[in-house]
Amino acid sequence: MGSESVVQRGLQDVVALESRICFIDGKQGRLIYRGYDIRDLAAQSTFEEVAYLLWYGRLPTAAELASLRTTFAGLRALPPQVTEILDRMPKDANPMDVLRTTVSALAIFEPGETKSGPSSIGGAQRLTAALPTILGHFHRRRAGLPAIRPRPELSHAAYLLYALLNAEPSPLDVNAIDVALILHADHELNASTFAARVTASTLSDLYSAVTSAIGTLKGPLHGGANERVMELLDEIPSPDRAEAVVQARLAKHERIMGFGHRVYRVEDPRATVLREWSRKIGEEKKDLHYYDLLRAVELVVMKEKGLYPNVDLYSGSIYTLLGIPHDLFTPIFAASRVSGWTAHVLEEYDDLRLIRPTAAYVGPPEQRYVPIAERK
Ligand code: SDX
Repeated sequence: MGSESVVQRGLQDVVALESRICFIDGKQGRLIYRGYDIRDLAAQSTFEEVAYLLWYGRLPTAAELASLRTTFAGLRALPPQVTEILDRMPKDANPMDVLRTTVSALAIFEPGETKSGPSSIGGAQRLTAALPTILGHFHRRRAGLPAIRPRPELSHAAYLLYALLNAEPSPLDVNAIDVALILHADHELNASTFAARVTASTLSDLYSAVTSAIGTLKGPLHGGANERVMELLDEIPSPDRAEAVVQARLAKHERIMGFGHRVYRVEDPRATVLREWSRKIGEEKKDLHYYDLLRAVELVVMKEKGLYPNVDLYSGSIYTLLGIPHDLFTPIFAASRVSGWTAHVLEEYDDLRLIRPTAAYVGPPEQRYVPIAERK
């Protein structure tokens, strides 16, 4: 009954499908969206333009980008039935649970958007536009902030900050969050994207696929790491204490969040860009405390484990300086990655193949059924 094939635990290095969306060069530390290097996109593009690129496979013209911006602004509001559900959620609920539940609820009240097929790009735009509203509505209620007002004039990044903080963010703050959204938009077959593709490969609907992805991203080995990085920093009073704190954790065989990666064998190129933004925002806010601690932690982890930073190491320091609470860090990751998740779902619908690997059976050998009366 056993199988001779070799098991690749965690599907490590298994090539599961062909894709035209994202290329990761783990050896050189490069990340490419539809042929464009994320360093160019982070320096010159916007999240709306990157979402367009992921969905349509090419950069938009000025008119197409303006049209997408208008589309996003028109898709930010939630149906009243869904805001009612949101308002019944406990204020101390995990925001990733709130996000997952609300996307699921949206599917019930707007079935027209949840199409399963290449035409479901409308649903992709809807969810991408609405996630900041879901997060903002929930957070404003628990923080006692006023209700979100429609702000069609705001870009996606500016609207995200306004929705969460009820603030009029500075251009530098908007630029910082826009870069973070660009850098988190896609990453090939990471666990949450793969979960979305598995769901879509059964021809289930787009909203179900995104619900699967949100549940997957919640895990601290995937999306939740950026929150735990800040918890680590809260334990380190000053950079000169970083070595002792990190070594104590490693001595207990704990993982240092924000380090290591299944694919990158050198520094995650997103960490390189985010480190620079952590310094830039720290200088602008005159608070380099987190940046200095992270630089010290990096040195220790490299020395002790030879591990490089990943995307989650510096993002939390930037979000904290922008005034965003820790438990919204992973939801912000989701608000960006929903563009990549939905691009992969559309690609799956276009070239559908039910995703169904096999397992090597290592259970008990065949045996005769024993009636309960005869069991000892
Ligand atoms: C993301 O897949 C993606 O692309 C994900 C992502 C995306 O954009 O979607 O890039 C986003 O998830 C980034 C990663 C965020 N997670 C963390 O920062 C959590 C900490 N990192 C690790 O848990 C780990 O590095 C993983 C999960 C990211 C990758 O782990 P692997 O490839 O399965 O490697 P492994 O667990 O087999 O570890 C190999 C060795 C082990 O040592 P030994 O037990 O063999 O002695 O390296 C050690 C591990 O203990 N190790 C770490 C470590 N990461 C690996 N030791 C301490 N701290 C760490 N962070």
